[in-house]
Amino acid sequence: MARLEWTDEISVGIAEFDIHHRRIVDLINRLGDSIDTGDALKVTEEALYELSNYCFYHFFAEEDAMEKYDYPGYIEHREEHLKFIETVFQLIFDFHEGKKSTSRELLAFLWTWLKNHILGTDKKYTAPLRAGGMS
Ligand SMILES: [Fe+2]
Ligand SMILES: [Fe+2]
Repeated sequence: MARLEWTDEISVGIAEFDIHHRRIVDLINRLGDSIDTGDALKVTEEALYELSNYCFYHFFAEEDAMEKYDYPGYIEHREEHLKFIETVFQLIFDFHEGKKSTSRELLAFLWTWLKNHILGTDKKYTAPLRAGGMS
């Protein structure tokens, strides 16, 4: 599968959050590779475990910053984070039930998340948070 390279177009302009978002790019690549090599079960399990932590450290960090700088889109943004958490926990459930398509579903979900949330919803906070002093 084609690998996804990190570019400035993915950057949200806030170093801490870019470091977190690189984890998603890395997981997309690891999952894609693992589907090619037949190693998908092990990598999917690791990815789901990592994402269950990601929900907390990354979403809390973004939500804290949005609250601190009175970001007007906070509520809608948080709703999307909650939906992500729901989906990840559903995928963890499916995986433990032995659902064979979980790896591909997780990979598709992360691609959609990158395109719609990181490149869409997240990027909307760049200017207001940078104006507040974040960089
Ligand atoms: Fe984010
Ligand atoms: Fe976000």
